[in-house]
Amino acid sequence: MSMSDDLRTIEAQVTEGLAAATDLDALEALRVSVLGRKGKLTAIMHSMGKLTPEERPAMGKLANEVRTRVEASINARREELAAELMEKRMAADACDVTLPGRRFSPGTQHLINQIREEIEDIFCGLGYTVEDGPYVETTWYNFTALNAPEDHPSRSAKDTFYVVDNAPGSVAHAEETNVQGESDILLRTQTSGVQVHVMEQKKPPIYMICPGTVFRPDTADANHLPQFTQVEGLVVDEGITFGDLKGTLDYFCREIFGRDRATRYRPHFFPFTEPSCEVDVSCGVCGGKGCRFCKNTGWLEILGAGMVDPNVFEYCGIDPEKYTGFAFGIGVERVAALRYDLPDLRMLMTGDMRFLKQF
Ligand code: PHE
Repeated sequence: MSMSDDLRTIEAQVTEGLAAATDLDALEALRVSVLGRKGKLTAIMHSMGKLTPEERPAMGKLANEVRTRVEASINARREELAAELMEKRMAADACDVTLPGRRFSPGTQHLINQIREEIEDIFCGLGYTVEDGPYVETTWYNFTALNAPEDHPSRSAKDTFYVVDNAPGSVAHAEETNVQGESDILLRTQTSGVQVHVMEQKKPPIYMICPGTVFRPDTADANHLPQFTQVEGLVVDEGITFGDLKGTLDYFCREIFGRDRATRYRPHFFPFTEPSCEVDVSCGVCGGKGCRFCKNTGWLEILGAGMVDPNVFEYCGIDPEKYTGFAFGIGVERVAALRYDLPDLRMLMTGDMRFLKQF
């Protein structure tokens, strides 16, 4: 076959190949097979040297023309395929810009956490540290080291969630039971156990608060929740008096409720403080006159407090002759209810965004 026949064959093959190449990869393969370093047309160009000087000009011209046409047709086909690809992508990725956008709903910090942080800020401003303690406690930390007698009613399973399987005969039963036959491991009913942890670990002076969740087997109603939040406070130093307790808690109440609410200190009993008191804040709904919200008393209780009982210092290895101190436990849900006149504590647990987003 002559060289010119070869050239015509190649051109015909390219024309056929172009129609068959339905994507850019196939087209590139075709180009390489013809125009690449080892391509058919390249091979012919290289073999020009074998022709006689007479044949060479005409054949060279023909070969160049074929190459120009082949290149042009490949380029044209490439553009065509690229345009097709773009069309396909546009159709597949189409989006309806007239649809409404996706709404983000970031929510808000829960009211209880807001107030917990506010309480932390108030006491940090007075130089207190913020401590943490376990939710699952032993009877030692929740009761015994806090001077609660073995027969104290709050130790019973009616008032405390015990968590260890203490079926008779089990190891837990033998090792983890107290005199009442209850398990020794419980969900803390108060954050006061953290007082003991902190006094075991730190030397006075101690000025600390500890916010945290506590648990009691109460049925939820307007004023009670089976799981709620307390902020414990403990001060241990030389020369601390009840005046320091009152000054600190009055300052706290003013900061959190503002100046128009009054406070009152009512004598009370806690095993771990002596003397003890409960602190009430005047009702914001009736302004202290008495209403359904405050059960007609004009006051709402928000915290318990007192001077640390010397027995507790002794349990914790602190010299009660040298140090005195006070402790308090603030009910955070009660503070929220008082500040915003919430008629029912259960509202805080519902997750109803219409309610929660107001704060
Ligand atoms: N732990 C007590 C309660 O839960 C509150 C309290 C704390 C009282 C510290 C006195 C001192 O009721």
